[in-house]
Amino acid sequence: MLKGKHIILGITGGIAAYKTAILTRLLIKRGAEVQVVMTPSAKEFITPVTLSALTGKPVVSEFFTANTGEWHSHVDLGLWADAMVIAPATACTIGKMANGVADNMLVTTYLSAKAPVFVAPAMDLDMMAHPSTTRNLELLRSYGNHIIEPAAGELASHLVGRGRMEEPENIVAVLEEFFDRSLPLKGKKMLITAGPTYERIDPVRFIGNFSTGKMGYAIADAAAKAGAEVTVVSGPVSVKPAEESVKVVKVESAQEMCSECVKLFPSMDLAVMCAAVADYAPAKVHDTKIKREQAETATIELRRNPDIAATLGGMKREGQTLVGFALETDHEEENARRKLASKNLDMIVLNSLAVPGAGFATDTNQVSIYGPAGLIESTPLLSKGAVASKLISLLS
Ligand code: C5P
Repeated sequence: MLKGKHIILGITGGIAAYKTAILTRLLIKRGAEVQVVMTPSAKEFITPVTLSALTGKPVVSEFFTANTGEWHSHVDLGLWADAMVIAPATACTIGKMANGVADNMLVTTYLSAKAPVFVAPAMDLDMMAHPSTTRNLELLRSYGNHIIEPAAGELASHLVGRGRMEEPENIVAVLEEFFDRSLPLKGKKMLITAGPTYERIDPVRFIGNFSTGKMGYAIADAAAKAGAEVTVVSGPVSVKPAEESVKVVKVESAQEMCSECVKLFPSMDLAVMCAAVADYAPAKVHDTKIKREQAETATIELRRNPDIAATLGGMKREGQTLVGFALETDHEEENARRKLASKNLDMIVLNSLAVPGAGFATDTNQVSIYGPAGLIESTPLLSKGAVASKLISLLS
């Protein structure tokens, strides 16, 4: 959940600052990139060297690097972050945040941050219970900040009460839950067909096409990143999903792909038909290799394959979304929109063979996406990953 997330860890001058080494370690272990911003007094409690060694990034504390005069941009930092966590947050910093007292790098970064902010207070029980603290935390809540409530227990003063910074494991759990909840396709099940189909002629030959599966697998990865539970029904390809959670069901022929999709579709919320399904298959599969010597000419009788997209379109129930692809050489829009209607699709993604770099076996694609009411969006030539993200954002 935290993989690749940019997290600013703001550390202030409280005893609990010693726990931030563990917090940093846990965030890094989960794949987050962490930038530590410390108040000057935080350095009395934990050294910047420890934290920069753990994060692999110099700790930021001052507005300028003294010897070079390099300015540390709190604005850039604020834009870089997917989340800002202030832990421990002392009464002093909470008060400054609540009232916009931007006299250090941490508070200026806080004021510049566009990302969600999480505040883990840590202080003595009387400070915690003081109406000033209560009012300042209330102000932070009113700004939309998330307060990670302190636990009750023995405090550094040996007094027992409420004010212990929440344990690093629990702070990480709060972040994970937040990112998990904010995934746009969380709880959705998605079926994707990808790659070509192979239609057997005899034990060593088949009818196939040049599809590599790159577009379908890119959609699978983008959907999984958006929180969907993804199953790819895939023809023979060498690509693999980058996201571990993507389930792959390997098939060979259109008939097998169709059977798997018909089984899976009823439990799905969304389905994207990206496979280049062979339109025809040999009517008879020879048991033995067809020999060249047998005849001067050979004819393979072909029989039409099932149209998987149209079959699922016929089964579609209320609440399900079905997306198809179209690869056209002429009357592109007209053909794509006709297919949208005839297959009972909700959206169709048209790739044009006329655009260099789009379509089969490339790493890029240029698409126009249509819905029943007409064009939804046309993209420039983009990586297949970017096209996939665009499609997923339209489905979210
Ligand atoms: O009819 P046409 O092949 O152009 O339609 C393309 C769309 O239909 C794609 O989404 C493709 O995956 C799907 N299709 C299918 N089964 C077929 C042929 C196409 O699912 N037999």
